[in-house]
Order: sequence, then structure tokens, then C-alpha cells
Amino acid sequence: MRNTHIFTAVFLLISAMAGTTTGADDIVVADFEKDTYEGWTVTGEAFGPGPAKGTLPGQMQVDGYQGQGLVNSFFNGDNSVGSLTSPQFRVERKFISFLIGGGRNPEQLVLQLLVDGRVVRSATGLNDTAGGSEALEVDSWDVTELAGKMATVRVIDAAQGGWGHINVDHLVQTNVKPQGAIRDAERTLVAAARYLHIPVKNGAPKRVLSLLVDGQVIVRNDVELADGDPDWWATMDISAWRGKPVTLRVDKLSAGSTALSRMETSDQLKDMAALYREPLRGQFHFSPQRGWNNDPNGCVFYNGEYHLFFQHNPYGWGWGNMHWGHAVSKDLVHWEELGDTLLPDAMGPMFSGSAVVDWKNTSGFGKGGQPPLVLIYTAAGNPTVQGIAYSTDGRNFTKYSGNPVLQQITGGNRDPKVFWHEPTQKWVMVLYVELQGKHTIHFFTSPDLREWTLASITEGVAGTAFLFECPDFFELPVDGDVTKKKWVLLGANSEYAVGTFDGTHFKPEQTKLPGHRGRGFYAPQTFSDIPESDGRRIQIGWFQTETRGMSFNQSMTVPLELKLVSTTEGPRLTFSPVKELESLRGKTLALESLTLKPGDKNPLDEFQVELLELRTEIEPGDANEVVFNIRDSMIIYETKTQELTVNGQRAPAPLRDGKLQLTIYCDRTGLEVFASDGLCYMPVPFNCKPENRRIFLEARGGSIGVKMLQVHELRSAWNTK
Ligand code: FRU
Repeated sequence: MRNTHIFTAVFLLISAMAGTTTGADDIVVADFEKDTYEGWTVTGEAFGPGPAKGTLPGQMQVDGYQGQGLVNSFFNGDNSVGSLTSPQFRVERKFISFLIGGGRNPEQLVLQLLVDGRVVRSATGLNDTAGGSEALEVDSWDVTELAGKMATVRVIDAAQGGWGHINVDHLVQTNVKPQGAIRDAERTLVAAARYLHIPVKNGAPKRVLSLLVDGQVIVRNDVELADGDPDWWATMDISAWRGKPVTLRVDKLSAGSTALSRMETSDQLKDMAALYREPLRGQFHFSPQRGWNNDPNGCVFYNGEYHLFFQHNPYGWGWGNMHWGHAVSKDLVHWEELGDTLLPDAMGPMFSGSAVVDWKNTSGFGKGGQPPLVLIYTAAGNPTVQGIAYSTDGRNFTKYSGNPVLQQITGGNRDPKVFWHEPTQKWVMVLYVELQGKHTIHFFTSPDLREWTLASITEGVAGTAFLFECPDFFELPVDGDVTKKKWVLLGANSEYAVGTFDGTHFKPEQTKLPGHRGRGFYAPQTFSDIPESDGRRIQIGWFQTETRGMSFNQSMTVPLELKLVSTTEGPRLTFSPVKELESLRGKTLALESLTLKPGDKNPLDEFQVELLELRTEIEPGDANEVVFNIRDSMIIYETKTQELTVNGQRAPAPLRDGKLQLTIYCDRTGLEVFASDGLCYMPVPFNCKPENRRIFLEARGGSIGVKMLQVHELRSAWNTK
């Protein structure tokens, strides 16, 4: 049911007409229909020898321009730069309208109007992140006050890299208010329910959508607003203003856009029937209901629940508007997503960080004997600082009024991971700091989570991505022996160092050891405060499967148990899926003591399922290769080199006791393969083809001894609690 809305007058003025028409009284300043820029001054090479005839080589489809030609500074790609200046003309009409597209960068990608050498009006393109659209849009300047002045227009492309170009066409002087975009379109409505639903079209130009209460901007996000039918609906929790009028403002709205009129309030999320059943939704990997996720944040066990916070863009399919999303689970398998916990504020968007339980209430945030859960995060504004927030119920969080707790060191300081160091009775923070072009980890200590003192600095390995972003730091027993513990310092790409730590200084014994051996795995974090009776070190990582066409994007890996085991080269991390995942097992196929020769019938032929876990132990015998085909993905073990290839991704996987050990998880979002007692972990994200459900096992070049093989169909972890 739709709510009663109060429309503002400006909204009703939006016309259904798009594009431009040139009236009889209009003066065309430039239409770029000739082969050269005749009369214009060109510098640099970005604008080519003359106007482009549409799309240039290597560019996404350009449309929305008028006639055959346009200014398109993608000549020789995004890295070329230059400028284009028109001959002088007299301002003789009330408006100058134009078509504009390309990259959004008000300093480096601009269309300018100059009078007496001064820039009096300017406009930029529409895109600032990967993806987006090459469509030009109508825009205009009101130039009434400049009547009679001599002016020039100038197009500047000083930008390089992604979206480093600008497109312009059809500059016209006119007295008819152009039917182009509306600036600062507004609509006021009553916050009658919990949610505001916002129509999103993936790839549409980004608009700044603000929510104002009593005339103040309270919430501000970039949204790829759908002008017509949306791909999906983003949801904003507006319960804080229930019953009050709120104003929605969009910085720029295309002519005919229905975005504002379609926004509506309700107490339910939209399209709930399809939720978690979407074709590309991981069925036992966590992903957000709507929007984008990247890093796991604030992983902690508190009051009987695992908390998984995560970098979340609730309003877009791509990265941006960083919030901390929040989900909880009692078993690491079934997750319940709660609303966003940390929202961008005056200090900036909420970047990655961690969580701890403050058992001794050192912070003083506890209440009635309940130890507080404290989040430590980066506020990535200018300056970029570290802040904290707390809760005593694991649901409602308050940002500390004394934030920031750590001032900016350099602009590249972020991703605090905090833990309690029992021997020194202090909190320790490891923080990534890009210092004079080097990746460093700064160690800070604190008695109370509020005041932090620099204790030491550890450098990564120069010239590599080692220890870059999202550090994690924890102690693990070697071979399960608690009298032999080592510290592990790990970076976002999962490379790590093993060493000792005295509460202030980390002394690495071995550095830059490879972590995972797959791809698309990033910024993993281990859970804090898992009870000692359990004693596991559990990690979860960002599993980078792109889910095109969905209302959500990316996901997390399965939770992984980490251990340190001795090898001849020293202690090494092992990864294994947590045992709780076994609760998803359905029907099983089990084989034992089977010899398989080349040409034998596939022993797995009868077992066709979508979601699966496969465990096996194989003696490779005299075979050259052991080959699994899991629903069209090739997993090949080469016995001579003892290397494993998963969908083309290769890694060493030493035989253990002469046997190949494999555990394979297959979800809609890709494969996670574990080999060699967990020494080899290969996450390989991709969209698994739904139609092919067959699995094969084959011996090549000789026969193999299958000691044990189990394939379990897995149930979805969603809606099945
Ligand atoms: C890693 C990262 C972090 C940062 C966050 C922002 O993926 O770049 O360093 O805090 O993402 O979303």
C-alpha cells in the first residue's frame, strides 16, 4: 500500500520529456558535426584530431549525443589529457544548455563557461567508479545575469586512469528553460513506517540523495537512482524520525525521472519472497540482503552470538557509502542480518575495523555488570581518524563522544585490529599506516580503549603488497601445544609473518609467507573473544564473487579454522572449514577402497546436486593426474609436481603420508578447496553454472586408490534454521 505523500511543487514540474530540441529562436554554439574543431583551440591529445563519431576504440557504448559527432576525450584512452576552447561568442539568451557525460571530477574533467578569463559556470561528467554509463545527459546553466557579455566555453580533461575522460555535445543558447536535469529536486513525506524504499538502477548516474529533518541534512549517500523501473530497492531505516516529515533531496534528477515519486515507506523489506533464493546468491556463504559488501569487520563472540560486521554499501551494487553492516549467528552457519550499525558521519565514511569484549570494563562503557562490546573503526574523512563505539546488548551502538581516539598519522592510516594482551594487562591495536610510501603496521597500547600510545612500528617487505591494509594479529599454539605459542601478523592479502611479541614489539622469525592459494580472497579477520573452552581461532574473509544483475554483490568465505603446524620449513598456517558446516549435510554418497583406472566408469555419475561438500583421500599410485570435474569446474592434481589446479588457479599441495587429501565446497558463488591438511587453501570465486550438476572423478595415466570419498549434498543455510 502506498502512503500519503506531500509532494513539493518542484517535483510536479518535472516534465516527462527527455533530450533537447532546438527552437527557432535558439542559437547553436557548437554541435560538433564537422570533421575538425574549426575555430576552437585544442591543446594536448585527449580530444583527437576532431569531434568523435560516437564511441571510440576500447570505450563502452556512448549514446545520448545528438547527430553524428561529439566531443569525446577518450581519444587514445583515459590517460590522454588536453583542453578545447571555443571562439568568443556573445551571451544572448537566458540559458546555455548542453549534453554532458563521462567522468565525474569537478576539478579535472570540466566544461566551463568563461567571461573575462574567469570561470563563471562549470559542469562535470557523471561517473566516478568502475562500471557506470557512457550516456550523455542534458544539463544547462542559467546565464540571465551574463546577458550581453562576451564568453568562451572550455572543455578540460586533466584526468588519467578510470573515467579519465569527458564527453560534451550540443551547446545551445536558448530562452526556453531546458527540459534537462532538475537541480536539488525535493519531496517531503511523513516517515510513516520503519523503512524508506529507494529505487536503484545499477550503472545509472550517481546522484547525491540527502535526507533532511527540520531543514538539516542528516543522511547523505551516493545512489545510482533509477529514473524509471528499478533493478532493486535499497532500504533506509527511517524509524528514528517516525511520524515526522522528512525531506528527500536529489542533487540532480533527469527530466522525467520517477525516482522521487516512487520512493515509499513501509515496515517490510521489498521483494522478501525472493530473498536468499536469488539465482546467484551463495547458499551457505554470508552475503548482505541488499547492496555491496567488502571486508569483514568487528568479528567477535559476545553474549552467545558470533557477530559479523562488514563493509556495506546499502545503497549500491558497487563499493561506496561505507557503513558497517551487521549480522549475528549462533553457529557460524545460519546468519541473521540486522540493520546497519555504523553510519557515515561528519568524520567520514566508516572504514574497516574490529571489535572486542571489554571484560574488565576498562573503558567504563559497561552497564550493570554487563561488559561492553566495543567497535574500533576508521572514519575515512579528511583527516582520516580512528573512532570507537559501544553497546551492552549487541544491538544498539553508541559512538563515543570523545572520538576520535586516534588522530590522523598519515592519510593512509586505517583498519585498527584490537586485542587484550593479558601479560601486560593492556589493549593492543595494530593499525595499517602508509608512511612515506611504505606499508607499515603501527602497534599502539591503551589501558582503556580511549587513550592510545605508540609502542612500535613494523615494516612490511619493501616493494611488495606484504602487510598492506587490514592487519590481523593473534597468537596460536604450534601443533596444538599451548606451551609453544607463536604470534602471527597477517595482511589483507593473507600473507603473514610468524614471530614473538612482548606486548609492544613484534619480532618476526619468518616473513612474507603465503596465506591462501586461490584468488578473490581479501581482508580476512579472525573472531575475537571466542571462549577458551572452545579455543579455536576462526577467520572469515571477503569472497569476491561478482553477482551481476542481483540486488546484492560479493560475499564472505565460509568460516575457517586456523592452526599453526610445524613443517620442515618452520611453522605454517593451515585452514579448514569449521565443523559447524556439517550441520548442512543432506544425502551422502560414500565410497571406500576403490581402484580407478583410466577409462573406468565415473563412480560419481549418479550423484547430481547443486550445493555440495566433497571429502576424499586418494593414493595417486602410478597415475599422472587425478581429475575431478565439479559441475564444470576442473580440479586437477598432478602427482609428479604435487600441484593442484582449480579452474586454472595453481598451487602446491604436498601429499600427506603419500595421500592426496581434498575437501571441496561448491556453492553458487564458487569453490573453496582445501588440500594437504589445510596447508593449501584455494578459494576460487565465480558464478557456478546452475544447469550442470554432474561431478566426475577420473584417473589419468595410471590407476589411483580411492581410500575414502564422501560427497554430501548441502542444504541452504538461509530460511532453514
Ligand atoms: C580493504 C579496504 C580497507 C578499508 C576498506 C574500505 O578492502 O580498502 O583498507 O578500510 O576496504 O571499504
